Amino acid sequence: MFERLKKVDPEIFEAIYNELLRQRNGLELIASENFTSDAVMEAMGNVMTNKYAEGYPGARYYGGCEFVDVAERLAIERAKILFNAEHVNVQPHSGVQANMGVYFAVLQPGDTILSMQLSHGGHLSHGHKVSFSGKLYNVVHYTVHPETERIDFDLVRNLAMEHKPKLILAGYSAYPRIIEWEKFREIADEVGAYFMADIAHIAGLVVAGLHPSPIPYAQFVTTTTHKTLRGPRGGMIMCKAEFAKDIDKAVFPGAQGGPLMHVIAAKAVAFKEAMSEDFKKYQEQIVMNAKTLAETLVSEGLRLVTGGTDNHLMLVDLRPFKITGNIAEKALERAGITVNKNTIPFDPEKPTVTSGIRIGTPAITTRGMKEQEMKKVGKLISRVLRNPEDERVIEEVRKEVEELCNAFPLYSERYENMRRLL
Ligand SMILES: Cc1ncc(COP(=O)(O)O)c(C=O)c1O
Repeated sequence: MFERLKKVDPEIFEAIYNELLRQRNGLELIASENFTSDAVMEAMGNVMTNKYAEGYPGARYYGGCEFVDVAERLAIERAKILFNAEHVNVQPHSGVQANMGVYFAVLQPGDTILSMQLSHGGHLSHGHKVSFSGKLYNVVHYTVHPETERIDFDLVRNLAMEHKPKLILAGYSAYPRIIEWEKFREIADEVGAYFMADIAHIAGLVVAGLHPSPIPYAQFVTTTTHKTLRGPRGGMIMCKAEFAKDIDKAVFPGAQGGPLMHVIAAKAVAFKEAMSEDFKKYQEQIVMNAKTLAETLVSEGLRLVTGGTDNHLMLVDLRPFKITGNIAEKALERAGITVNKNTIPFDPEKPTVTSGIRIGTPAITTRGMKEQEMKKVGKLISRVLRNPEDERVIEEVRKEVEELCNAFPLYSERYENMRRLL
């Protein structure tokens, strides 16, 4: 399977093999990552990468699109059924491109967006000054409430009244609780704003009915396809039928050129997988695993932002252990546990230091781990966080991590195929 790659480019072969080993041998707890299926990867590595298909199915700017049209139509139809969406555009190359598509469809430069502040769980593409979104638009941020650490709806309403945004945005990168879409819609209606939901993180939970769907409330819903949805790396926009033309024009030619047809084929495969009963059970297990891991960390003496989690992720406040996010991230990495440092709401530390880490269960749940393993993982994390400079402890934990990973092997066939070529 990898013979030609090995022969043509041994350096890239080796880098891919090492990445495979890293994924197999470590505990992947980054909340935005997952392990997509072999079927999805097979669909991604195919001849459709060769095809230019600017335009949309049935209305392309190039000939020879009859088969890529099949793939794109399947992706669109399946996504419509999965999310109960009126219109779907599966062409955005990524989550940021999907958000760009919505902004380009409804905003002019200088228009006002109301969105969550990055340090309270928002995303760079929701108007941070280093992103195109912060440069092109006038951005006002809401935050969570200092006591509940949940969305401060009084603040959202007040800011909406004061600044009259054209677009109100909800949906986050680091928010562990259910989002009440209907409250945003109410405020958007009061001030005549569009409401957009970015469900990049929680799309899989939404499909499985474990998080309320924003589809009935938001004119625009964007997502990535590679997080809880467990598809190929990419983006997607869903919208009400009345905005279909504007959204399609904003994505192509507004923001992108030729669509990645091989990735769109893989999106279709992932959506088919997401229609299964197994996928629903998988999402339920993600949530149960997150709850168990959260309870274990609390019982070990750590504090969680909002006290716990309703979804696939938790934000750990490390201050009870007198350790910062960047030190915790590095110590855990040496022990074979991958997390990311993350600001907590009203964080006294700089974004490069932080007082927190973000932990998610989608990837380890894909490996087959359940509650019993979550208790073990929680204790291992706590052991490292109590002893971030004790290399003996870190080595002990690393061995236990390896044992745990060996009991839940990942991509075994792919691994064997590559290993025999070494
Ligand atoms: C809420 C949210 N939106 C958008 C994105 C961006 O997705 P991508 O990295 O595919 O551009 C992310 C990525 O983490 C995200 O968390």
